[in-house]
Amino acid sequence: MAAAARPGVWITFEGGDGAGKTTQATLLEEWVRAQGRETLRTREPGGTEVGVLVRDIVLYHRGEVAPRAEALLYAADRAQHVATLVRPALARGEVVIQDRYLDSSVAYQGAGRVLDAGEIRDLSLWATEGALPDLTVLLDLDPAAARERLDADDKPFDRLEAEEADFHARVRESFLGLAAAEPERFLVLDAARPAADLAAAVQARLAALL
Ligand code: TMP
Repeated sequence: MAAAARPGVWITFEGGDGAGKTTQATLLEEWVRAQGRETLRTREPGGTEVGVLVRDIVLYHRGEVAPRAEALLYAADRAQHVATLVRPALARGEVVIQDRYLDSSVAYQGAGRVLDAGEIRDLSLWATEGALPDLTVLLDLDPAAARERLDADDKPFDRLEAEEADFHARVRESFLGLAAAEPERFLVLDAARPAADLAAAVQARLAALL
């Protein structure tokens, strides 16, 4: 699905847990709507009915989930999401604003679970018939600062959030490596900056795509 072949615009937010993706997605949706464009606000995992079931397993299953099973579950969620929600919205000309996509699989299942990053990426590309966003915003934050934000939230940690500091350090490095490899798709922002500044930077980059 080449960017030029679809009337819509697809933007994904990536980053570690606690980086502020949801806040930025919400601010961006308000701004895009104010430009007069229809939006689809969605997320992975859990953007579809099937995805909600998958999300429950990958985030809250109490027993063991083998790393390859976890990778396949995220890929299954992604396949359903792109086929039934994202592609149709892009075909209608909507602006799709999404929390997390395949870069999360490369970072968490690849670097975090120590699976082959290339194989994980290829799995997602197979699942989605090669769908890639027009813009990916990476909200980069030191995992220790992110942990403080999550602690302040007072919500129980899910299976991934509960991983140790090394895991989250590998995830962060992987995201930065992915962004460096595809500078034309990625916008990397320091997530410690004020939310309004970050929102302005995202809007400036997206304006050229609308
Ligand atoms: P979130 O919706 O709160 O960001 O939680 C989703 C969690 O799932 C988060 O810890 C990152 C993780 N995740 C993966 O490990 N692989 C993936 O492909 C995706 C989309 C998320």
